[in-house]
Amino acid sequence: MSYKFDDVIDRSNNFSAKWSEMDKKYGTNDLLPMWIADMDFETAPCIINELRNRLEQGIYGYTTRPASYNKSIVNWVKRRYGWQIKPEWLMFSPGVIPTISILIQEMTKENDKIMIQEPVYSPFNSVVNQNKRDLVISPLVKIEDGNYIMDYEDIESKIKDVKMFILCNPHNPVGRVWTREELIKLGDICMKHNVLVISDEIHSDIILKNHKHTPFASISEEFAQNSITCMAPTKTFNIAGLQMSQVILPNENYYKILDDAFIRLDIRRNNAFSLVATQAAYNEGEEWLEEYLKYLEGNIDFAINYIKENIPSLKVRKPEGTYLLWVDFSYTGLSDDEVCKLLVEKGKVALNSGNSFGIGGKGYQRINLACPRSMVEEGLNRIKKAIIG
Ligand SMILES: Cc1ncc(COP(=O)(O)O)c(C=O)c1O
Repeated sequence: MSYKFDDVIDRSNNFSAKWSEMDKKYGTNDLLPMWIADMDFETAPCIINELRNRLEQGIYGYTTRPASYNKSIVNWVKRRYGWQIKPEWLMFSPGVIPTISILIQEMTKENDKIMIQEPVYSPFNSVVNQNKRDLVISPLVKIEDGNYIMDYEDIESKIKDVKMFILCNPHNPVGRVWTREELIKLGDICMKHNVLVISDEIHSDIILKNHKHTPFASISEEFAQNSITCMAPTKTFNIAGLQMSQVILPNENYYKILDDAFIRLDIRRNNAFSLVATQAAYNEGEEWLEEYLKYLEGNIDFAINYIKENIPSLKVRKPEGTYLLWVDFSYTGLSDDEVCKLLVEKGKVALNSGNSFGIGGKGYQRINLACPRSMVEEGLNRIKKAIIG
């Protein structure tokens, strides 16, 4: 079956944050949005069909998850990443960031130290600060063989007294899909210093050719017991507005702690639509995902070639995963403020400024390429107009 990834869909009536909230950040909605990590593609037909069936039932009362729900996740995790998990390790959560925030509250105390690697998805930083824990940042700025690598020496030198490490695997925004060897090195340091790993694996299905996602907890029983994994179908299938995710907790004590917190908050049920969408995605969505990944890879190659040929002052490396391109604008000779102003006022395009990802983001912009090829080209034309004229 071929899917219509080239179709441009009008999202003006879609109540879309990506399309209708730019005025809050950029002062206008008259921009081409290539910012928030949300796609401009219709989701998989199998999901739309299940949602339509559910909608037509006309009753949307409290839900109860059938055993087939966790089974669909267990099978997906086994098929896609070769990790055999158990249904009883799974917990529903309305979102990855809410899960991380609650885990910080439940597993650490005020002023405890929590380590992250910046640049990284900015809520990692804000959720630690908002919960009044102390951030310890290991910058992700070392480059080896042309790509970002973890700075283990830096991590080890700062990890004493750290209670929790929040890992972004695969990494937003630098696009690394961490290898098993890299994760073992990191996990060994965390074990040695008694640091709990929270592995945010929301981008784990968006993996490009020749790369493979390794769930941190799949590496060993030790790592499984010393970590909590967050995954979701939301990025993969463009269904973040349905608000669901799953937490994988092989450690029984951690499971109980989080379950008790969710009971207190009364957030243990899916909404009527997230329930059927999750099952449809994981049971029937694989063919759509494979087609989507091919199309995405085409977009990424197109963008990299375009930049090399038309805007050579921008430096870019191909991501290994995610649909996000992390582009170095520092060789343009423009300051970050100048770049942001030019992109909005002259180019009329919304990108995420590298500074918003924290240390190591200076000089960079993040470009979301999960849109029809014609929009990728239009966005790049706009970036060229902003930077070159
Ligand atoms: C690394 C990462 N984690 C979490 C999220 C958001 O997850 P949720 O909407 O489930 O809180 C995003 C969204 O872009 C992300 O990139």
